[in-house]
Amino acid sequence: MEIKIAKYAGFCFGVERAMNMAWECLKKNSNIYSLGPLIHNEQAVKKYEQAGLKIIENLEQVSTGDTVIIRSHGVPIDIYDKAKERGLDIIDLTCPYVKKIQNIAKRYYDKGYKIVIIGDPDHPEVIGINGWCNNEAIVIKKLEDLNKISRNISYCIVAQTTMNLKVYNEICESLKEITDNAIFYNTICSATKERQESAINTAKEVDVMIVIGGMHSSNTQKLVQVCKQFCKTYHIETIDDLNIDEIRNYKSIGITAGASTPDWIINEVVENIRDYFNK
Ligand code: F3S
Repeated sequence: MEIKIAKYAGFCFGVERAMNMAWECLKKNSNIYSLGPLIHNEQAVKKYEQAGLKIIENLEQVSTGDTVIIRSHGVPIDIYDKAKERGLDIIDLTCPYVKKIQNIAKRYYDKGYKIVIIGDPDHPEVIGINGWCNNEAIVIKKLEDLNKISRNISYCIVAQTTMNLKVYNEICESLKEITDNAIFYNTICSATKERQESAINTAKEVDVMIVIGGMHSSNTQKLVQVCKQFCKTYHIETIDDLNIDEIRNYKSIGITAGASTPDWIINEVVENIRDYFNK
């Protein structure tokens, strides 16, 4: 049995940075709050909760002097003001790539541009970016949404970091046909593309793929979709979801994991499969 692990699998730079920094903070202070779950991975969230992290939905749930983590997705600018008013300590773990988009949105909004975010209006990162331009951005998820664009306005276009590149390009091409009064910032993060490309490369070389990641993690679901095009694919959250008997007749297994899957979960899967075949 051969096991191949995709070149890019598991935590991206921004998530790894946030998780490490949150862990360091928890070592010093076991009474910390996170505004929303740190990542879309139940097992990792549980581990942090056991170390003392408490998840809150809004700042009204904490009191003066409390410490609140802002996760890698980022938040609207008014959250910082509210936190200041309430005398909270903020640990800002917004991914630097997301921060960059927030700054572009603010800078161009202040110059009088209309901000267009190509992405999912319900995603926390998009909600956060919109908060840096007074919640006045136009959010475009699909081509049909382009009816919100008019000719005589100056636009600044940014993208959700995990936006599908093909859809982004299609939307930008159509946008250029409607207006030539737009500045484009392709802010899609390379981590998503790298994970998808290396999942495809691995899936092409093996008989079966195992994709590890939260059932609700959209980037993990996307990896499952792309792998399915090339071979039988299983989506699991942990080793407990895998019936190894089912894969025992395959000659090669490929493994990949979503950007919010910790290494210890990936290693547990790999070691269990190795142990099973070395018996
Ligand atoms: Fe940051 Fe890219 Fe990850 S934007 S959180 S490094 S997917």
